[in-house]
This record gives sequence, C-alpha cells and structure tokens, in this order.
Amino acid sequence: MNSASLFPLATCDTSLLASQQRLQQVRAAFFPRLVTWQREHGRHGLPWQQQRDPYRVWLSEVMLQQTQVLTVLDYYTRFLQAFPDVRALADTAQEEVMALWSGLGYYSRARNLHACAQQVRDLHGGAFPRSSAALVTLPGIGPSTAAAIAAFCFGERVSIFDANVQRVLARLLGFGEDLATAAAQRALHDMAQQLVHPDADAAAMVSYTQGLMDLGATVCTARQPHCAACPMTDLCAVAGQDLAVELPRKTKKLRRTAESWWLLVLRSPQGIWLERRPQQGIWAGLHCVPLFSSEAGALAAAQGLGEAQHAPMFRHVLTHKDLYLHPVLIDVAPGQLPALAGEWHADWAARGLPAPLRKWLQAL
Ligand code: ADE
Repeated sequence: MNSASLFPLATCDTSLLASQQRLQQVRAAFFPRLVTWQREHGRHGLPWQQQRDPYRVWLSEVMLQQTQVLTVLDYYTRFLQAFPDVRALADTAQEEVMALWSGLGYYSRARNLHACAQQVRDLHGGAFPRSSAALVTLPGIGPSTAAAIAAFCFGERVSIFDANVQRVLARLLGFGEDLATAAAQRALHDMAQQLVHPDADAAAMVSYTQGLMDLGATVCTARQPHCAACPMTDLCAVAGQDLAVELPRKTKKLRRTAESWWLLVLRSPQGIWLERRPQQGIWAGLHCVPLFSSEAGALAAAQGLGEAQHAPMFRHVLTHKDLYLHPVLIDVAPGQLPALAGEWHADWAARGLPAPLRKWLQAL
C-alpha cells in the first residue's frame, strides 16, 4: 500500500483528532517494523552500544544531549579512562570533571554529571536506579534521558522523547499542534508512549529506542528528509510532501522587549504634521507624526514652534514588543513651517496611520 492510499496526503489533516486516529492505524505496524529496520539498517558500532552498563549509557546520553556523535566519541573514551565507574567519578573533585569536559560546552551538564554520580553513590548505594521514574529525580536527567537509560539498560517499556523523536512522530502522525506549548508536548508524548508495544522484551526495547534515534538522525532529518529510504513511508501522514519539512510546528518563544517613543504631535489650522515612515522598521510605509526615542530629541525638534504639552503616556502592545508612547502636543501658529520632514495634512484621518496614533488623534 502506498502512502496516498492510506492517507489522502493532499488533504492531510493536522488536527489533534486526526493524529490520534492515525496513531490507531499505524500502532500495530510501527513498533515491530522499527525494531527490524534498526537491526538491519541502524547504527551498531557506537562505543556505548552492545552493552547495558547504566553508567556508560548515562554518560553517553548526557554527552549526546546537546552534542553531535562525532564530537562525543573522544570525550566519552577519555572520561571512561579517567573515571571507569560511577564511584570513581563521584570521588573526583568537581574541578577535575570540569577540566575534562572542557570543550564540550553546556557546562551545567558537567556540574550535574558530578552531582548525579555523588547522588548515585550516596543515595543509591552506587547503583543507578532501574526505573525511568526514579532516574528522572537525579540531577541532569530529564524525562527523555531517563527513558533512554531505562529502555537501554533495564528494558523498560518507555519511549524516549527528544527533539529528533518529536520530529519523527509529528510527521508520521501529521501532528500539527504547536510543540512550544505544554499541552502539545503532553499530547505527542502520550502518543509516543502508545507506540511502544505493551509486550516488548528488553532486546526489542533496545532496538526500538536506538531505531527512533537512528531514524531521526539519518532518515527523517530536519531539512531534507530521505522519505524514499524510510521504512515508514506507507504509514507516514506526510511522506514525500512539502508539509514534511514544516512539521513539527514549534513557534519560537521570543523574549518580549519594550521601547519608548515620543510622538511629536504638531497641530495647526492646516492640519496635523505627518511624515512618511521608511519602508523598513516599525510602521513601515505609514504616515505618522515625527517619532523620537527621547523626550529631549522631541523637544529639540520642536524648538520655537510653541508650548509643548505632555499628554499621558499610553501603551501599545505588539506581538513581541511593548511600545510606551509619550505624545508631546504643540499648537503651531498659522504660517509656521516646522523644520522637519513631512507636511501638513488636513485630511490626516484619510491617511494610512498606525492604529494607536489614529485612535489617539481621534480622541483629541
Ligand atoms: N543521541 C542521543 N542518544 C544517542 C545514542 N544512544 N546513539 C546515537 N545518538 C544518540
């Protein structure tokens, strides 16, 4: 069956309900197929594979959290030489751990690594706990890393859920909710968990977990997914479609900023003095009163034109910015010409004005 017959792609519905329905359709096939694919086509030669020592798996997973495999390889080897087990790491001074981590970046990982080793030594008798629920209580171990350790080492039927897996599953299920929200994260995480076969044995959990990582890293890549090489094309909601690279949806959480502007409102019998805003930047291309980034600037430009009245400041909220607007009103005598770009507009209300300015002028 090809993808077009299972899911009518041109009309891929990215609603939550549609994703949940697709999940039920692909559920039985996805797990065993990924296990088989990983065993035949996945990665097997990485130094932290082919063994189930939680210390080694934990060390590799923490290093791989924000760093590429190629970079991690050397560090992983050097760490194991310096600290062959979790007690050796716990008993070392933090400075020594930091020094060996130097160059890997995100140094809070190294501090947490050391703290975690000490907790394993002091609170768990030197043995890593065996469940993802207990692992996640340790420093530097988030839910996805906890799931990776528990699945790789103890065969727990739990799904990893890092950014790669979120991408793979969002595409597979045509999941279009915004993963910047906690609700969407929860919904997709729930579906990831439902894809884990309820009777999977430990060996299958190892292949499945590694398979999710391998599929995300080598086939279902962020910018140019290799749909032709994917074992899941007939199950996938967006295989071969432009929509594939648009998923997952994740809006950036931009930090809000604030700016203050002084609006020089010059009023005369000929109207309001307006200039045209530049084609770029705030209120691009609109007509506007002269804007200044300081009160002093506004007053200097208005010198000799009349007495300045300071109207109450008001706030205008843009998507990622709060504008604090300070109108400075001057009644200009007839015949006076401001030495500023622009001209008098008797018909100012008919001009394209920024909405907050229009509102303010209309209330004048
Ligand atoms: N990224 C995170 N964990 C990984 C692993 N075990 N193998 C390869 N890449 C990874």
